Amino acid sequence: MQSKQFLCVLFGIFLTSIFDYNDAVVFKFTNVVCESYNQSWFVFHNCRLKAVSRNKVLFNFNGTILHPVNDIYIHGRIFKRATGYRPWLYDVTFDACQYLRKPNNPLIAMVYGLFKQYSNINHTCPYVGPQIIKDFYLRTDLMPLPWPTGDYLLSLQWIFDKKLQFDTNVSFVFVEDLIKKN
Ligand SMILES: *[C@@H]1O[C@H](CO)[C@@H](O)[C@H](O)[C@H]1NC(C)=O
Ligand SMILES: *[C@@H]1O[C@H](CO)[C@@H](O)[C@H](O)[C@H]1NC(C)=O
Ligand SMILES: *[C@@H]1O[C@H](CO)[C@@H](O)[C@H](O)[C@H]1NC(C)=O
Ligand SMILES: *[C@@H]1O[C@H](CO)[C@@H](O)[C@H](O)[C@H]1NC(C)=O
Repeated sequence: MQSKQFLCVLFGIFLTSIFDYNDAVVFKFTNVVCESYNQSWFVFHNCRLKAVSRNKVLFNFNGTILHPVNDIYIHGRIFKRATGYRPWLYDVTFDACQYLRKPNNPLIAMVYGLFKQYSNINHTCPYVGPQIIKDFYLRTDLMPLPWPTGDYLLSLQWIFDKKLQFDTNVSFVFVEDLIKKN
């Protein structure tokens, strides 16, 4: 992770967005794909979206970690769609147990900040048993930065004991709405 480059990109996004940013935006999930590669360590019971209104889509997630895990790495990537999903802004593999002990990365904090209040995963390692995210929806008021309009994919690959266990791939749309509605 070249943090200087990352900061430049963030600053660029900020500059290009600040002039037309408006609270009336669309920020919602469009798709989720969850897949376990090792059913003897992680099983999904539920990983689904539910649209409750045109601009509000709930994400529900229920999975079980069958054996305690103390060594969790996450390979996180954000893609932006432009004739196929292109790598965009971020590609990082980080030690999740260390992060939870000592949060130290602003972009991870932003993603985590969006959903932690909807989940039971706000604690330190080890992790075992049910992992729940309930009725999570995207809220611009929890986004410290405006984003450029686009379709995005956040891919999180969960690595236990150095081996890939499962993927959670979440697509979402962010639309700056320049004409404020009601
Ligand atoms: C999740 O997205 C990544 C990046 O596009 C891809 O390599 C991986 O196969 C996807 N996983 C699933 C389960 O679709
Ligand atoms: C699958 O999970 C078991 C724990 O139930 C673990 O011992 C094993 O190493 C895992 N296999 C892979 C390929 O990750
Ligand atoms: C998660 O799934 C398990 C297994 O199907 C079920 O027993 C449990 O009640 C579910 N938890 C929630 C919060 O939906
Ligand atoms: C997460 O856990 C920390 C420490 O236990 C607590 O201070 C914080 O309020 C929790 N945050 C949420 C959103 O539950």
